[in-house]
Amino acid sequence: MSPKFKNPRAKHNFQGRTCSITGVGSYVPAKILTNADLEKMVETSDEWIVSRTGIKERRLAAADEFTSDMATKAAGNAMKMAGITADQIDLIIVATITPDMPFPNTACLVQRKIEAKRAAAFDVEAACSGFIYALEIGQQFIMSRTYDTVLVIGAEKLSSITDWTDRNTCVLFGDGAGAAILQNRPNSHGLLTAVMGADGDKADLLFMPGGGSRCPATVDSVNARQHFLRMEGKETFKNAVQAMYQAAQEALRRCELDITRIKCIIPHQANRRIIDAVAERLGATAEQLFINLDRYGNTSAASVAIALDEAVASGKIQRGDLIMMVVFGAGLTWGAAVIEW
Ligand code: ACO
Repeated sequence: MSPKFKNPRAKHNFQGRTCSITGVGSYVPAKILTNADLEKMVETSDEWIVSRTGIKERRLAAADEFTSDMATKAAGNAMKMAGITADQIDLIIVATITPDMPFPNTACLVQRKIEAKRAAAFDVEAACSGFIYALEIGQQFIMSRTYDTVLVIGAEKLSSITDWTDRNTCVLFGDGAGAAILQNRPNSHGLLTAVMGADGDKADLLFMPGGGSRCPATVDSVNARQHFLRMEGKETFKNAVQAMYQAAQEALRRCELDITRIKCIIPHQANRRIIDAVAERLGATAEQLFINLDRYGNTSAASVAIALDEAVASGKIQRGDLIMMVVFGAGLTWGAAVIEW
């Protein structure tokens, strides 16, 4: 390995150990909800949704299809690409804000479905930033030699917490899952760095009031629509642009990389205007961006995981390329990762 950039993890003397993504996979449900369908549900228009967000359609899980089901299908595809069997998996991390139920964690349900009997399993909740948080956590176990194979999944059934009478939010979200297998891969730097950040002072910008210890489910809480997500769109937008830009800059700075060195940028797929504003500040070109939000909307923790899989499948990312993922979500939380693919 002769890097023309700095590997920020090298100083920790991991004796040649690196953490690479050796397989990716994704799954989206079959049912498509178009903007034309939404026009029949709330007072909106295809023109408004496309011009304000870039979203044309999104996927909806079936009534009997849950977050763990989508996560399991994405995981199976990632395992196939990595060429591993379930008994090789040491740890499963699922990033989600829509677990099948508050407990047990969704990672345990995936563990049962794929029969990864040796694996430990837990969930990470960092909303739309969850996949980057989970990647960074998983990476720690690989680099420390605690584990050899970690399965990281971002999976969401956002349709289950979407208020389908609220046009401010219901046009934005969709369901799906993406997965990655983390392993040491010789002769690659793999996951070079990951920036993670949070600002709990802005927790009220995007949240779901009901269902936790503060507001358990009651007839009143359900009638008051407390079990659906709520968002201050404009403020969230401004914070997203700022946080994603700063996280991306910090990740590049740590690796001593210029934005022009990044082959592919995979941003959180929330809003086309957010992506364009971040790209402009970074000095990134349209060719560097991977965008699929027109087809899936915002799938929260699944968003960049699905996009990564599609970018690899499309040939936009080749082994050896430098890529960057950059995310933002409720919390507020944000993150960015630079990876030698
Ligand atoms: N159809 C038609 N009109 C609408 C719709 C709709 N679906 N939604 C809102 N409007 C109206 C509003 O009521 C408002 O009307 P008014 O001026 O009469 O009050 C008008 O359109 C403009 O609304 P704005 O909020 O100013 O629209 P904006 O340009 O800010 O776009 C949006 C709204 C798309 C929500 C944007 O603010 C946004 O994308 N915010 C960020 C969301 C995000 O990125 N979330 C990421 C994290 S998600 C997670 O962690 C789960």
